[in-house]
Amino acid sequence: MDSQLYDVIHRRRDVRAQFTGEPVPDEALHRILSAAHAAPSVGLSQPWDFIVVRDPAVRAAFHGHVQHERAVFAATLDASAVRRFARIKIEGVLESTLSIVVTYDPDRGGPTVLGRHAIADAGLYSVCLAIQNLWLAATAENLGVGWVSFYREPFLNDLLAIPAPIRPVAWLCVGPVTHLETAPDLERNGWRDRRPLWAAVHHDRWSSGLHGRPHPDRAERSSTHPDRTGMS
Ligand SMILES: Cc1cc2nc3c(=O)[nH]c(=O)nc-3n(C[C@H](O)[C@H](O)[C@H](O)COP(=O)(O)O)c2cc1C
Repeated sequence: MDSQLYDVIHRRRDVRAQFTGEPVPDEALHRILSAAHAAPSVGLSQPWDFIVVRDPAVRAAFHGHVQHERAVFAATLDASAVRRFARIKIEGVLESTLSIVVTYDPDRGGPTVLGRHAIADAGLYSVCLAIQNLWLAATAENLGVGWVSFYREPFLNDLLAIPAPIRPVAWLCVGPVTHLETAPDLERNGWRDRRPLWAAVHHDRWSSGLHGRPHPDRAERSSTHPDRTGMS
């Protein structure tokens, strides 16, 4: 068992407020992009690209757009949620050292992508795996990553000259951080809690009552094989 991998997985955090703005060494940037590029992909389509954004003018334009979308979202909330949302920082676009925009090209590897004929979204799943690889590699490098999704795709396509049909999937703020919090920002700000693992695990079929708790028929076996209980 590689306990360092588990450590990185559990240390990873979405970062907004802890960016220092210090430089990201070129070698570290190369390693995290290389980790992203090593992700699995449907039909080996590798449908991702990475736009490294350093230009302050581009970041300022994106930041302005995000502020607008923040207001659009806030307008959908009730009064109590508006108050809680007001405390929550949703991006570190200007404070982070750089940004990486990850895109999805549905035509890459086409027209017959092996394994995507029945599930078109499998291409997007592949991009998300690249993003997670990048996020974990950055954590291993002691860098923070913050995923920003408060934007409209056409705005980013225009801003970054992304040609159709390529879609932006994530704007990732990246850079050194003072520290990584031990709990998600949304949990710390009383927005939403993490679910316990047992509530997410089902056995044999979807169940709304027994989630992950040992099935009565299996209680004995599960108690002697804790890894089969689905409980953390
Ligand atoms: C697809 C996706 C989009 C997200 N968009 C935003 C965002 O726009 N702003 C933000 O502050 N956090 C965003 N996040 C971060 C989540 O809020 C965060 O992952 C979640 O609260 C759990 O916290 P953790 O990543 O620190 O464990 C996004 C995460 C994902 C996976």
